[in-house]
Amino acid sequence: MDTQVGIVGGGPAGLMLSHLLHLKGIDSVVLESRTRREVEYTIRAGVLEQSTVDLMVDTGVGDRMKREGRAHQGIELRFGGRGHRIAFDELTSGRAVTVYPQHEVLKDLIAQRLTDDGDIRFGVSKVRIHDHTSGTPKITYRDSEGNDQMLTCALVAGCDGSRTSIRDLIPGDVVRNDYFRRYPFAWYGILAEAPPSSEELIYANHPRGFALVSTRTPEVQRHYLQVDTDDSVDDWSDDRIWSELHARVDGEGVEIKDGKIFLKSILQFRSFVCEPMQHGNLFLAGDAAHTTPPTGAKGMNLAIADVYFLSKAMAEYFANRGRGRLDGYTETVLPRVWRTQHFSWWMSSMLHRLPDEAGFGHQRQVAELDMVTRSVAGRTLVAENYVGTPFE
Ligand code: DHB
Repeated sequence: MDTQVGIVGGGPAGLMLSHLLHLKGIDSVVLESRTRREVEYTIRAGVLEQSTVDLMVDTGVGDRMKREGRAHQGIELRFGGRGHRIAFDELTSGRAVTVYPQHEVLKDLIAQRLTDDGDIRFGVSKVRIHDHTSGTPKITYRDSEGNDQMLTCALVAGCDGSRTSIRDLIPGDVVRNDYFRRYPFAWYGILAEAPPSSEELIYANHPRGFALVSTRTPEVQRHYLQVDTDDSVDDWSDDRIWSELHARVDGEGVEIKDGKIFLKSILQFRSFVCEPMQHGNLFLAGDAAHTTPPTGAKGMNLAIADVYFLSKAMAEYFANRGRGRLDGYTETVLPRVWRTQHFSWWMSSMLHRLPDEAGFGHQRQVAELDMVTRSVAGRTLVAENYVGTPFE
């Protein structure tokens, strides 16, 4: 056998799994189709739940995040032109989120794996999994030099994101259920050189559409605007972006601070869950198994939760304590997957302009936001799910 666990995908799920397995004395190889540079510089979301932060610190990959990340003790939900704070510290006994971009987490994980002599193979192609229901699954692939290779392992983890083809190895007709939902809106995301417009993130419901005010550093800000699903990046000039952000957010002590936009992209909204997340000796984790809409920034956090439990199950298996936890992997993680799906869907549905029900739909949303923010129980529900529930 070449390695104990073959991991397809070097994103948050694959790299964290490899790191956690290493700490348990288990050997793995990570196969990633992108280059190291692409992995380390692709811009994604930037909010870490408390459990993600704790796991990074406890497993020795949290130093830079502690130094450079920013803890946020609350968010603002904005509607009817007024801000309503959700105070995480009071509502969740001191839990918080940390703003630290996903690609920085990946840099830290890659650096640690390489320090620990970890094996990450970038730039591979034509990855295929064979015999995953046998005791010796194999992964064939073409390496970055163009040579065909084969890796024999005991277990395989599919961590290669929402466009994975590995999922199809779970037989669709008899075993697998796919749940899918599209949403009638998209996000336009920007990075801009500008001072922060607010100390905390602002989620704004406005009759013109949703806006999100986020941040990266004191010099760089990340903002999002709800746009139509068929809008393209070029449809939005810098002036149009800033004037729309002002229109949707400004008021009552907040004024968006303009700056130089240096990155623009469009994010589509979808929810997806595949059940079960395993078949034979193949296990899916992260976006390969489920995708959430971006509202709430749950994608990476859910991927980290998956591999926290998967690494425990794999460790028990390799310690010859049986397949119980491995076989129960889907059952262990699925309730959290669906709770997270619900939260992202709920936040999205409360905050976005719904194309077909602008009048009644908007008033109903404002009433819901009013109900949620005026009661301690409502605010606690948002806070607990935003900071994320503990792993155990
Ligand atoms: C960010 C992204 C999100 O989806 C979110 O809910 C909050 C913040 C971000 O990229 O900063």
